[in-house]
Amino acid sequence: MRPAIKSGRMTIISLIRPNIEGLPAYEDALRRGWSPNTTRNVSGEQIALLDKLRHAPARFLYETYESPTIRMPDGSEMERLPAHDFWISDGEFCGRLNFRFLRGTEELPPHVSGHIGYSVVPWKRRLGCATQALRLVLPVARSEGLSRVLVTCDDDNVGSQKVILANGGVFAGETPHETRAGHVKLNYWVPTLP
Ligand SMILES: CC(C)(COP(=O)(O)OP(=O)(O)OC[C@H]1O[C@@H](n2cnc3c(N)ncnc32)[C@H](O)[C@@H]1OP(=O)(O)O)[C@@H](O)C(=O)NCCC(=O)NCCS
Repeated sequence: MRPAIKSGRMTIISLIRPNIEGLPAYEDALRRGWSPNTTRNVSGEQIALLDKLRHAPARFLYETYESPTIRMPDGSEMERLPAHDFWISDGEFCGRLNFRFLRGTEELPPHVSGHIGYSVVPWKRRLGCATQALRLVLPVARSEGLSRVLVTCDDDNVGSQKVILANGGVFAGETPHETRAGHVKLNYWVPTLP
C-alpha cells in the first residue's frame, strides 16, 4: 500500500453554486442536524422553509442566498452584503462556504465577523474539505479586488485555526466574542495573492 497523505484520509472538493438539483442532499444534511450557519443553528428554520417552499425550490435558494436582508443571532434583520455563496462538493454534499464583502474596501461592518464563513457536514470532516474550500475561494476574493481577506474563528476552534493557517493566515489579534462568554474571536488576514 502507498503511504497515507497526511492524516491518511483526504477528499478532493470543488466549490459549486447552490442549485436546485443539489437541494435533496442539502436537505438531508439539515435533517441530520448540520447547520450551514455557525453563529447560530439554522437547520430547523431552513427545513421549515424548505417544507413551505417544496413546490418553489428556486424561491428557497433566493431566500437563503439573495434576499436583501439576513437574520442576526439576536433575531434582528441586517442588510445582506454582496456575497458569493458556494456549496462544497466532492461529488457528494460536503458543506457550504460564504464570502461576503463590501465593494472597494477591505473593511467590514461591525456585525460581520470576517469575509468568509464555512461549515462542513460532520461526516465529511477531517478530509481536507475546509482547507481546500478556503484555498479555492481566494481567487474569487481577489477578483473582487481584495488582496487579503479577514477570517475569524473561536479561540477553541482548533480545526478552523488549522484551516486558516494552512492558507497563509497571519494572526491579527483578538476581539470579544459576541455570543460566547469567556471566549474571544481570533482574527487572521489571509492573502489572496499567490
Ligand atoms: C472547523 C471545520 C470547518 C473544519 O473543517 P474540515 O473540513 O474538517 O477541515 P480540514 O479537514 O481541512 O482540516 C484542517 C486541519 O484541521 C484539523 N482538524 C479539523 N477538525 C479538527 C478538530 N475538531 N480538532 C482538531 N483538529 C481538527 C485536521 O485534522 C487538519 O489538520 P492537518 O492539516 O494537521 O491534517 C469543521 O469542523 C466545521 O465545519 N465545524 C463546524 C463549523 C465551524 O466551526 N466553522 C468554522 C467557523 S470559523
